[in-house]
Amino acid sequence: MQKACFIVLEGVDGAGKSTHFNWVKEKLTAHGIDLIHTREPGGTELGEDLRSLLLHKPMELKTETLLMFAARNEHWVNVIKPALDQNKWVLCDRFTDSTFAYQGGGRQLGKGPVQALADWLDIKAEPDCTFLFDLPLDVARSRLSSGRDNADRFEQENLQFFERTRNAYLERLQLQPKRYALINAQKTIEEIQLDMTNKLNQLLCSFSDLQELKAI
Ligand code: TYD
Repeated sequence: MQKACFIVLEGVDGAGKSTHFNWVKEKLTAHGIDLIHTREPGGTELGEDLRSLLLHKPMELKTETLLMFAARNEHWVNVIKPALDQNKWVLCDRFTDSTFAYQGGGRQLGKGPVQALADWLDIKAEPDCTFLFDLPLDVARSRLSSGRDNADRFEQENLQFFERTRNAYLERLQLQPKRYALINAQKTIEEIQLDMTNKLNQLLCSFSDLQELKAI
């Protein structure tokens, strides 16, 4: 049995991913899972420096895409792969699907260059489970504008950008539905956590000998 599970949370800005990321982390840790939690872009010292540049410095689209993958390569080689090799579960806030969605879709780079970079790097581009937080963009936008003063380069983008980003995520899901758990991010926090508990229990059955998580 493969003991370590690689879980990623994805979605457009404002979908509420961060709240649920912390909940999954606490729930799995309390349940006795040996887990590391990390994020992209970031997750290493160099990756966090690249994150500051990516979120705040204007740059060419190809530069942006290469820096996303530069950060990811450091992250994969130095953090994620070693953890999985040691049978630790990995919970990651965003991964390669974000590049397909934001650069490929939102910024209209297309899938080809993103796929080419993903193929070139010898990484497991497909996590074992990706929770995709999806919701209408007017709701996502209103959540963002009520919560933030200093929006980063991505959060400042317009509705069309986020429509393309959302559609690119949904297209990825249609290609490989088994890898995703689609979360209706318009539901209440409690309803979402119940949906996530069901999926996490399936993962516990597949990846560990531990008993099921209790429902909330
Ligand atoms: P995120 O961690 O969700 O920011 P926050 O927690 O502050 O809301 O993500 C940072 C931004 O980076 C987000 O707008 C999406 C963007 N991003 C890409 O455009 N491509 C990528 O490959 C990744 C990983 C993130």
